[in-house]
Amino acid sequence: MTPSTGPDGRPGSADRSAAWELLLPAASAPARARGRALQAALRDAVRSGRLAQGTRLPSSRDLAADLGVSRGLVTEAYEQLTAEGYLRSGRGAGTWVGDAVRAARPRARDLAPRSPGARVDFVPGTPDLSLFPRSAWAAAQRSVLTELPHEGLGYPDPRGLPRLRTALAELLTRRRGVVADPERIVVVSGVAQASALLGGVLHARGSRTVGVEDPGSPQHSALYASAGVRTVPLPLDEEGLAVGPLRASGVRAVVTTPAHQFPTGIAYSARRRAELLDWARSVGGLVLEDDYDGDFRYDRAPVGALQGLDAEHVAYTGSVSKSLAPGLRLGWLLVPGSLMDEVVERKRTTDLGHPALDQAVFARFLERGDYDRQLRLCQRAYRERRDALVAALGEHFPGARVSGIAAGLHAIAALPGRHGPEERFLAGVAEAGVAVRPLTAYGHADGGGGAGPGVRLVLGYAHLPPARIREGVRLMAGAVRSGDR
Ligand SMILES: Cc1ncc(COP(=O)(O)O)c(C=O)c1O
Repeated sequence: MTPSTGPDGRPGSADRSAAWELLLPAASAPARARGRALQAALRDAVRSGRLAQGTRLPSSRDLAADLGVSRGLVTEAYEQLTAEGYLRSGRGAGTWVGDAVRAARPRARDLAPRSPGARVDFVPGTPDLSLFPRSAWAAAQRSVLTELPHEGLGYPDPRGLPRLRTALAELLTRRRGVVADPERIVVVSGVAQASALLGGVLHARGSRTVGVEDPGSPQHSALYASAGVRTVPLPLDEEGLAVGPLRASGVRAVVTTPAHQFPTGIAYSARRRAELLDWARSVGGLVLEDDYDGDFRYDRAPVGALQGLDAEHVAYTGSVSKSLAPGLRLGWLLVPGSLMDEVVERKRTTDLGHPALDQAVFARFLERGDYDRQLRLCQRAYRERRDALVAALGEHFPGARVSGIAAGLHAIAALPGRHGPEERFLAGVAEAGVAVRPLTAYGHADGGGGAGPGVRLVLGYAHLPPARIREGVRLMAGAVRSGDR
């Protein structure tokens, strides 16, 4: 294929020998995995810039012939990547590499920021969006639209559709050990909205402070602050949130991530869970449990939700942001009976209820076992990626300690002190094209997040194929070596 001109008039740069050979390994993948492998290779080529913006792709017929695969696979890959924004196509005019990848810009540190210039970005908390079950979701959407009676398009119950609350109660009881009465569930647009609602209710009750974990999620602080509730950073120890400082702080509500603390990855010990609940009972307080990645467990028994131990002192929230996609804006909140009316009223006055069609689609997705299937698929993929990360760190950074790996979508890597001061390390790594975040970035206090010798990194791995993970760690190690010289 000769270089050709894109729709913006700029010359395309791909030629057959250079550009398409990078798709050949995908083309020789086993038949069942070939379609997905081809899409992943094409996506990667666009992301990494090997296929530049404006590059015209060959016709599906030509590319299929070059790669020795069926034309249908190529057409499907083009359609999928066009839908995802990587490619653009004009009717009858061919297919080009689009500009969406370059256009993506991070907006805030805490909203899964990506570093667009980075070759490998270990941003934490992002699932692999290419694993989104498009066909099953489309089938659920079609069937819901066909079956939904006209009344189903009216304002929904502000708690959520009864059908969805029933399906969620079954799921959360079975998978997370939650005490889940459908009457106590409120369907929300994510942990973010659950936090805003709870913050609003606490504020209306006269609370002006809430405890948060330190280090912790910047999301928590921002969301409660926007409800007029000041956050009080509280330290952790190796068992979870330290109860002494909690008692001394005087707060009556505290936000926690007990299954897989964000960002340290600690699973709260059984003793600490009991102590937290004792605290809540003794002060008439509330534990706000954010089960943000509780679905992913690798090599330890599932740790049930804290809410299962005391549903009257714990408000429990989770979402599909890590299991399906954050863009769906779909989550759940289970509240103690004493807060239920206020939370539901606040949800009603905020948005008159969660979109009915989305709820019905998700209900069907749950009822048919599609959600469980998706979790199993992601679990397998993420375990493999976690293993790749641990192995690569072991190979390139001997002496590194990797923790928080039994669950979730990210790990903590403590690199030994010989890698120099944190700022120098981070600058060198960024120059090598790798985006990483130090644990200190998640601390509230000076040096929070565990200052000390060496560098501690929060490494998200779920969105990166194993080869990219290995590449990222290799580049990091190379940067450190050249910094040493
Ligand atoms: C600790 C924590 N909880 C929850 C979320 C997700 O919030 P949501 O469910 O609103 O997407 C995030 C996202 O980054 C997070 O870091």
